[in-house]
Parts: sequence; C-alpha cells; structure tokens
Amino acid sequence: MLGLKKERDPLFLFFSGKGGVGKTSVAAASALYHSNQGKKVLIISTDPAHSLSDSFEIQIGGEIKEIKKNLFAVEIDPVKAMGEYKEKFMPQLEKMEMLKGLGIEDTFDFASMTPGIDEIAAFDKFLQYMEKKEYDIIIFDTAPTGHALRFLSLPDVLDSWIGKMISFRMKFAGIANIFKKILPFGDSEEQRDLGTKQLDEMKKRIEHAKALLSDPKKTFYNIVLIPEDMSIVESKRSLSVLDQYKINVGSIIVNQLIPENSSCKFCQERRNHQQKRLEKINKEFEKFNVLQLPLFQKEVHGFETLSSVASQLYGK
Ligand SMILES: Nc1ncnc2c1ncn2[C@@H]1O[C@H](COP(=O)(O)OP(=O)(O)OP(=O)(O)O)[C@@H](O)[C@H]1O
Ligand SMILES: [Mg+2]
Repeated sequence: MLGLKKERDPLFLFFSGKGGVGKTSVAAASALYHSNQGKKVLIISTDPAHSLSDSFEIQIGGEIKEIKKNLFAVEIDPVKAMGEYKEKFMPQLEKMEMLKGLGIEDTFDFASMTPGIDEIAAFDKFLQYMEKKEYDIIIFDTAPTGHALRFLSLPDVLDSWIGKMISFRMKFAGIANIFKKILPFGDSEEQRDLGTKQLDEMKKRIEHAKALLSDPKKTFYNIVLIPEDMSIVESKRSLSVLDQYKINVGSIIVNQLIPENSSCKFCQERRNHQQKRLEKINKEFEKFNVLQLPLFQKEVHGFETLSSVASQLYGK
C-alpha cells in the first residue's frame, strides 16, 4: 500500500482528482490511518476552499495544529500567505516595474515572468512545509486537478523566473550608482545582498522540492476518481502529466462505488453501470494499484467515518 517504508526523511503523499470526487476525504482518512500506525503525520491543505476542517470536524487554521496524537494539520491561508510573500518580494517586483521605461524590457520579459502571486505565495509556503524533517509522512490535500497539476509546473516557472532575476542583477551590478539605486534589490548594499540572498534561497528550495517531488522513493501521487467516463478521462490526463514530470503514482482510488442492494432497483441499475466503468478502470489502469471505496450512507466527516474509510482502503 502506498509504498510505505521505514525511512527517516518524510514521505509525501498527494491526492488529486476532479472536484468533489473525495480527495479531501481520502487524504484525511489516509492521514488518520498512518497516524494510528504510529507515524507522525502532517496533513496540509493547499485548497483555498479549506474543507479539511469540515472533514475532521475540527477547526484547523493557518498554523500547524495537533488534532490527534501523531496527527498534525494546517490549512494554507492564501490571503495570509500572499501578504507574507508580498512583504518579502514585492518591493523588488515594484522596482522591476519602474525599469520598464528605460528601454531594457527586451532584456527582461516582464509580462511572462510573473505567475499569479497567490500561486507563488501558496507554493512558497508549501516549500517551507516540505522541508520539515520532523514528520514521517506529509500529506497534501490539493485543489481540483487543474490547480493541483499547475502546482507541479510552478517549480519550472519559478526557477526560470528567479534565474532571470539573478542574471539581471549580475548584468547591471557593476554600473553607475544612480542606476544601482533603481535596481530591484534594495537601495543599500545591505538590502541588495538581502534581496539576492532571498532569491538564492528560494532557488535552492525550488531545486530541492523538484528533486523530492520526482524522487520515486519519497513522493507518491494518488488519484481519486469516481466510476464515470468524465472522471476516467480526467484521470488519464493527470497520469500523462505526472508521467511528463516523472512523478511516481501511488494508488488510484475509485470512490463512491454503490454497494450491492437487491431491494432497490434504481441502486442496482446504477451499480451495474458503475461496475462496467470499474472494469474499464481496472483495464485502463492495470499497471497501477487500484483501490476501491464504497459510497457510504452518510457524508464522510469526523474521525469515526474517516476510520471506516481508512479500513476499507487499507484494511484494519
Ligand atoms: N465514499 C463516500 N461516501 C459518501 N460520501 C462521500 C464519499 N466520499 C466523499 N463523500 C462526500 O462527498 C463530498 C465531497 O468529498 P470531498 O470533499 O472529499 O471531495 P473533494 O474531491 O476533496 O472535493 P473538492 O474538489 O471540492 O476539494 C463530501 O461531503 C464527502 O463527505
Ligand atoms: Mg477537497
């Protein structure tokens, strides 16, 4: 299951899939399962909708909180992350804007360099958490597929963006003082050094994250889907993106499978339809570890139901 090994460094588990298929539920259940197994687990939500608190029925918030023995959780607050990030990098970006009028735009493509500041901010936070050594397992509950996969491309985007910032600084570092004053790295020597240091640090963190994300012993990307055509197509697309980024796939979780019920004709019809889709899934994804999760009578909220989900998925 999920390729767990007793290692000192944390393992990273991602749960991706279309909106509403059960990512948060499965991520929360997995976090609970591993913490019950004696692993120290951190679960991080990068979904701006923050449904982790609802899933655990515990208010979590923007700081790491121990919600049960061995189980820690945090919901990255996009507004707060953006505020912190702007404080750190925005003065530099604003000065970049000032350089626009100097006829050097060609040297630096301002328009293409900036991914959404909210995305960078969330990613910056994500990188910080990724480096936490004290956990055995770090689980990420990501937003619906498009967003989660864009997240994966951010290291490349940021890498080239930061690379450009650094080479730009190098290029103009030696010229007249007056010019130095408007360079995007602070007015004093000290501030300039600090700006460069932050960029260097960020670059190192990104490189580290890229290495971790593509390390098949450390990162497992799980896909949650429902037995419907649209969801299957979406999952195939995700798998090809994951393949492109050389990211390891842990499990494919088929959720909301209707159980046998001979007294309900409608349920039985739905079930038959789903079973056909399940066959298709088993065939299309045969080289992966496909797990099944039934549709529960009630919503999957709270430790008790999450435990049932965990035992369905991973056994007692
Ligand atoms: N197997 C299941 N049986 C019953 N209810 C389920 C099951 N799986 C998920 N649910 C319920 O479906 C709803 C959506 O689940 P969840 O929030 O886990 O999906 P999600 O993929 O994280 O959604 P989003 O894309 O909005 O983040 C929740 O109310 C959850 O309790
Ligand atoms: Mg969710």
